[in-house]
Amino acid sequence: MGSSFPGSISTLLDELPKETWYGSYLYNWEGFWYRGHHLSAAMAARSNFRANDSDVFLASSMKTGTTWLKAIIPRIMNPDVRITNDDDPLLKHHPNELMPSLEVQLFIANPNPDLSGMSSPRLFRTHVPFPMLPESVKNSACKIVYITREPKDTFVSSWHFMNSAITARGIDPWPMDEAFGTFCRGIHAFGPFHDHVLGYWKESRKRPEKIHFMRYEDMKKEPREELQKLACFLGKPFERDEDVDKVLWRCSLERLKNLEVNRHGVDPSLGIGYKHYFRRGIVGDWKNYFTGEMQQKLDLITAVKFEGSGLDFGY
Ligand code: A3P
Repeated sequence: MGSSFPGSISTLLDELPKETWYGSYLYNWEGFWYRGHHLSAAMAARSNFRANDSDVFLASSMKTGTTWLKAIIPRIMNPDVRITNDDDPLLKHHPNELMPSLEVQLFIANPNPDLSGMSSPRLFRTHVPFPMLPESVKNSACKIVYITREPKDTFVSSWHFMNSAITARGIDPWPMDEAFGTFCRGIHAFGPFHDHVLGYWKESRKRPEKIHFMRYEDMKKEPREELQKLACFLGKPFERDEDVDKVLWRCSLERLKNLEVNRHGVDPSLGIGYKHYFRRGIVGDWKNYFTGEMQQKLDLITAVKFEGSGLDFGY
C-alpha cells in the first residue's frame, strides 16, 4: 500500500466487512480487525513513519501485560534514572505516556506528525499485527519486544476493560457469552488474537535478535530472569541483582495501581480512568468466569491454531 488509500477513510470503511464489537464496529482490513480511527492511523503510520535503528517498539495484542512492559522498558533504556526514586517518571505519568502508541496516539490526529522532538532512543508501542508494521520498523535495526498472554485470560481481561470503557460512555456492558463467541470467531481489536500472536512468534523465531517474544505467564513466574533477558536483548544488561529488584518493585502492579496519577488520572485517548489498566494481574483468572464448555472451546481453537508452531501456554 502506498501513501494513500482509496477515497476518505469513511468511504473505505463503507466497503470493508464489519462486525459489532463492544457497542461499536470493527472493520476487516487485510485479514485483521480494527476500529475505524485506529485503522486510519495505522495506515498513516505505515506510510509515513520512519524508524531509527535505535528505536524500541513494544508490540502486543491488547490486554496481554503491555502496561507492565510500558513501565519496565523505559526503566531499562534509561539507566540514569534506573535507581533513583525522585526521578521516577512513573510518579507523574501513566506508562502509556512513556511509550506512545503509533495508532492510538501519535498518528491519530495527524497522519504525518513531527516526531523530531523525541529524545533518543525513541520508545514506541503498537497493537498492529506484524504485517501492518511500517516497512522501516520491519527492516531497520530497531528492536521489537512482543508480549502475549494465555488466550482465556486475555479474553477475560479485555472483556472487563472494554466494558469499563463503554459503560463510561453510557453504553450497556456486552454480555460475556456474546463477547466470547465473537472472540472465538477471531473478531477482536487488532486480531484475530491467535493470528496476531503467530505473526510475531514466527518472525521472532526467524530473527531473535530483532524480536524478543515474551509471555505474561513467564514474567509472573520468573520475573528476575525474564527482566534480565529483556535487558540483555535491549543491550542494557543489569549489572546488579538489586537493580533488577528495584525495577520490578517500581513497575509492580501493587505500586502502580496505588499511585495518585493512576488512581485518579484519565486516559485522554479512551476517556476512561487509568485505574482500569490495573486490575487483578493474575494467571488463571478465567477460572472465575468460564464454564467447562467455554474452556474446551477456546483451548481447542488455540491448540489447532498453534499446532506445529512450537508455541504453547502449557495447558
Ligand atoms: P487483568 O485484567 O487480568 O488484571 P495491558 O497492559 O496489555 O492492557 O494488560 C492489562 C493486564 O495487565 C491486566 O490484567 C492488568 O491487571 C495487568 N497489569 C497491568 N499492570 C501490571 C503490572 N505492573 N504487573 C502485572 N500485571 C499488570
